[in-house]
Amino acid sequence: MPTTRSKSAKKTAKKKTAQPQGAGAGNSQLEKLFHDALKDIYWAEKALTKSLPKLMKKATTEELKSAIADHIEQTQEQVTRLEEVFELLEKKAQAKKCDAMEGLIKEAESVVEETEDGTATRDAGIIMACQKVEHYEIATYGTLVQFANTLGLDEAAGILEQTLEEEKQTDQTLTEVAENSINWEAEQEEEEEDEEEEEE
Ligand SMILES: [Fe+2]
Repeated sequence: MPTTRSKSAKKTAKKKTAQPQGAGAGNSQLEKLFHDALKDIYWAEKALTKSLPKLMKKATTEELKSAIADHIEQTQEQVTRLEEVFELLEKKAQAKKCDAMEGLIKEAESVVEETEDGTATRDAGIIMACQKVEHYEIATYGTLVQFANTLGLDEAAGILEQTLEEEKQTDQTLTEVAENSINWEAEQEEEEEDEEEEEE
């Protein structure tokens, strides 16, 4: 019934205005979600500071090695930035295991295992794995920036935006490295005969 509905709508509206508004409200469900997502990406970035150096060692092309080296430095800075965001929220920097990143890192390790040392094919595989990581991070930081904006946490949004831009740039750099020569060289490398039926 329309009358009942408008009554309950009024009630809801009243309830909403009673909630604290704007920056640092600290207790909305969105802020909790934001905080949980921060813990998740904090774990992910820290895990990457350990796994990226291993991937770099397994790469062959200097161009790829140096792209990964640059991103290792950025990742360390991104960890520090997340700590700043925790501080702005007046929360302890805490990591919560990110299942998605754990899976992506495992996938990167198996790409290395399944390709031969010193080949362009391995480099192409490492780039593929790294770009999957970047896309996951772009999705995460994109959302975190939006959440921070909605919560009125402008400073946090600005910090997260910097990382978002770095992840996008890294993704683009990796595409360029792949397209410059690695993918083409990998295409010239012959498959070993006994591997052909492996996936059947
Ligand atoms: Fe990152």
